[in-house]
Amino acid sequence: EKGEYRHFMEKEIHEQPDSVQHTLSEYLDLVSGKVKVPSVDFAAVERIQIVACGTAFYASQIGKYAFERYAGLPCDIEIASEFRYRQPAVTQGTLAVAVSQSGETADTLASLTWCKAQGLKTAAVVNVHSSSMAREAEVLWPTHAGPEIGVASTKAFTAQVAALLSLAVAAGVARGKIDAAQEAELVKALFEAPRLIAEALQMDAGIHALTIDLAKARDVLFLGRGPMFPLAMEGALKLKEISYIHAEGYAAGELKHGPIALIDEATPTVALAPLDDLFEKTASNLQEVAARGGPVIMIAPEKAPDPHGAGIRRVHAPDCPALISPLVYAVPMQLLAYYTAVQKGTDVDQPRNLAKSVTVE
Ligand code: F6R
Repeated sequence: EKGEYRHFMEKEIHEQPDSVQHTLSEYLDLVSGKVKVPSVDFAAVERIQIVACGTAFYASQIGKYAFERYAGLPCDIEIASEFRYRQPAVTQGTLAVAVSQSGETADTLASLTWCKAQGLKTAAVVNVHSSSMAREAEVLWPTHAGPEIGVASTKAFTAQVAALLSLAVAAGVARGKIDAAQEAELVKALFEAPRLIAEALQMDAGIHALTIDLAKARDVLFLGRGPMFPLAMEGALKLKEISYIHAEGYAAGELKHGPIALIDEATPTVALAPLDDLFEKTASNLQEVAARGGPVIMIAPEKAPDPHGAGIRRVHAPDCPALISPLVYAVPMQLLAYYTAVQKGTDVDQPRNLAKSVTVE
């Protein structure tokens, strides 16, 4: 059932224009340019507490940036295995949200059950709609990625991001933070994502060419700011999982606080640099890396200015509205991991030591 593709992962990466479109349509109305009435009264929510593991945790962090920026809604996000055992202080008025592809991850489910027992309102963003979390939570917020076979999550991740961004806009509308004109603009931006993801898939050949060198690296650093920071961590996780190359994702502003010590000719840095209000800051971090002899791969729109410095290679990403840049830039992250793994000859769909669903701790 892989059709023209070599691996399920490759197929699932290419399914994303559809899976994102389908997920957006659950929460937004393309014709009216409005959000659909959310199943939670966001005006009555004081705080959101998200729990998740792995890739779902990074998708949730992107969601946090959006809930705070577009809805002024405080949002905490925590790794479920920490949350469930540390006796967190939760306050009534908090909406607890579990984010999970499978809906079966033991730590996430236990955290959700615990929140419910504390009397909190609960919701679950899940891809398997008949799962334990879907049944446990009061509100089901589905993603429509369809079955994901590759162990390394790709289309489930972008579906989670699409759902969370849509919900953040819905929360902004409900809380009076977003007026009708802004709502129309943001909904339009979200519906541009499928087309721009399809455009990002055209980066294929350019990314493929870079992975010949990347496959030789022992360590790779991923950098980003804003929502590109969690996406940098997701990119690092993807690379680790399927190519077994050590990788770390960092907030670009943290570079000077430690990781710059790792930079040498053999340690590539991948930077996610959309042309937003933080571009110049990221570009100057890349100059610092280049000045220390570190090879840099800068993923940015073609119209973004060239940072000074030898050794900075560029891959052009589609220019896109800020809200959806995590959806669009997820694609080059996934392709980078995929082609590096193919280059190394690892088992892309079934990486060593990993299981698709972690139902035991
Ligand atoms: C990474 C990956 C894992 C899962 C994590 C949570 O590619 O797939 O990190 O994201 O095990 O799984 P779910 O979303 O099913 O709770």
